[in-house]
Amino acid sequence: MGGFALLLFASSVALVGVCSGGSDAPRGVAVGFVFDLKAKCEPPCEHAGVCIRNNTCRCSRGYEGETCQYANCYPKCKNGGVCLRPGKCRCPPGFGGKYCHKVRCDGGCWNGGECTAVNGVAKCICPSSWAGSKCQEAICPQGCRNGGICMAPGICSCPVGWLGGACHTAVCGRPCLHGGKCISPNKCRCRHPFSGPRCEERKKPH
Ligand SMILES: *[C@@H]1O[C@H](CO)[C@@H](O)[C@H](O)[C@H]1NC(C)=O
Repeated sequence: MGGFALLLFASSVALVGVCSGGSDAPRGVAVGFVFDLKAKCEPPCEHAGVCIRNNTCRCSRGYEGETCQYANCYPKCKNGGVCLRPGKCRCPPGFGGKYCHKVRCDGGCWNGGECTAVNGVAKCICPSSWAGSKCQEAICPQGCRNGGICMAPGICSCPVGWLGGACHTAVCGRPCLHGGKCISPNKCRCRHPFSGPRCEERKKPH
């Protein structure tokens, strides 16, 4: 019962309590409260609280409320955590740690992402080259064209027939002749006056 001393009166009907600390006194009962030994508290004081007057409980350290029913947590539970008993918080989803002060991202954050509370909600903050709820999606700033897939930051995986950083270069198995240009897989665009699959034929003048 640390924190206050009791002085016994001659009548032994009442005691006077003097708070030595004062900081943990409940509901403004601070100094020199009357301690009635015959006091009745109904419902009774909880968590080892002492009934000091009719229906007035003096709560033990860590509890407060009319019947000392509420636990106190110091430091307070953060991020909407509920104080279960002194110093023990129950944390809402997305938060953890003794005071619910630590953020928890479901499934974690990948690729160097950092779990952070944004407006009270746990979120992965991703490095610039990654995106998605877990930072699981790579970003290819150049884009991946022609059906290419971004596999890692800036790196496209290209379908057969395409090459280059953005899968933008077509591949012609056999080169286009006479200055023709490979414009899609195995397809040449020919310069005048050439034609044919590889621009190998010269059109006859009319
Ligand atoms: C406390 O309540 C009891 C009845 O429950 C009553 O007899 C008594 O007088 C009360 N004490 C004070 C100080 O009001």
